[in-house]
Amino acid sequence: MSKILLTGGTGYIGSHTAVELINAGFEVVIVDNLSNSSADVLNGIERITGVKPEFVKADCADMESMVSLFNRYPDICSVIHFAALKAVGESVEKPLQYYQNNITSLLNLLFLLNERCAASNFVFSSSCTVYGQPDNLPVTELSPYKPASSPYGNTKKIAEDILRDSVHASKSLKVVALRYFNPIGAHPSAEIGELPQGKPDNLVPFITQTAAGVRDKLMIFGNDYNTPDGTAIRDYFHVVDLAKAHVIALQRMIEGKSKQNFEVFNVGAGKGITVLEIVETFKRVTGTKLNYEFIGRREGDIEKVWADTSLANNELGWNPENSLGEALLSAWRWEKKIRNIL
Ligand code: NAD
Ligand code: UFG
Repeated sequence: MSKILLTGGTGYIGSHTAVELINAGFEVVIVDNLSNSSADVLNGIERITGVKPEFVKADCADMESMVSLFNRYPDICSVIHFAALKAVGESVEKPLQYYQNNITSLLNLLFLLNERCAASNFVFSSSCTVYGQPDNLPVTELSPYKPASSPYGNTKKIAEDILRDSVHASKSLKVVALRYFNPIGAHPSAEIGELPQGKPDNLVPFITQTAAGVRDKLMIFGNDYNTPDGTAIRDYFHVVDLAKAHVIALQRMIEGKSKQNFEVFNVGAGKGITVLEIVETFKRVTGTKLNYEFIGRREGDIEKVWADTSLANNELGWNPENSLGEALLSAWRWEKKIRNIL
């Protein structure tokens, strides 16, 4: 079987996907510049699967490095492209860095696949950020794009446009863009998980760090939203379920089952959960205490979004297997492990 290239494969979602791909019998090559991850993750993947994926430290935005990578692995024609900068706030401060990194990486990979492969398969990490604050909920794949609220969000919208146009002009390229909602949690083995650098932006790592005593208290951004308890609503789901969606998407293209050469799927639990519900569920399943206080809304946050996942359920046969409680418990197990808490 040909090798699958995972860009950004030592990152949070990429590492969980590497595990699921290896478990499904695929050979994985990871390329990552380690700007937001560590090569230690490869050992975690090996401890879970018994296989250490091949690893190349390189920057996908650097064409020379990518040419060397494709020369070294000439049979690579399937790519799962995770590599991107993803901090929404930072992207507002450093828009050029985000456009350069996220868009150039994508273009380099597409040029190389186009040049070298008679048939190529590409899974892209898109985001529900492309919907902004939707007019109707739950949001379907046919809901319109909304203007992006950050350069990061705009890179996802632009990337989808680039992919759609590339597929249109190509006889060899197939693409599945997965629009992730809010992946959380860690592998049940606690060998890999989310490793935010510095102060976490995201809710669940902030909660687990607070419960572990690394942070004093959780700040909940806004309790005056038009939601049942006033806190914002998102669609949280287990990262292992997300990882499995990538395997299914890839197999769909490899086995020639795509209905169109460019396909888009929402990937989430299909349920809207408030921040306070996350806090209460976390406390219940872990038996920990959690200090929190309400502060003002975070700039750029939307009020509520959750997915209509019927397309992924019916077309891909993908359904999340883990509950919210399991996802939160796995995040806690991972936090305890990295903090040496018994
Ligand atoms: P992550 O930061 O953990 O993983 C991304 C990896 O890409 C990191 O290991 C980083 O070092 C690497 N990387 C970044 N730029 C690179 C480059 N130019 N060359 C090589 N490697 C590079 O992030 P994640 O949460 O695993 O996200 C993976 C993808 O999913 C990203 O594209 C992100 O935008 C997208 N996404 C994530 C979420 C989420 O909630 N985590 C939601 C929607 C979409
Ligand atoms: N929140 C808090 N306190 C915190 C962190 C978050 O109250 O310390 C709240 C946020 O205001 C939001 C919810 O928790 O209401 C979820 O916030 P996250 O930052 O975890 O997730 P977002 O939905 O804001 O953003 C995530 C990714 C983005 C991506 C977006 C859409 O972090 O990269 O989903 O895919 F663009």
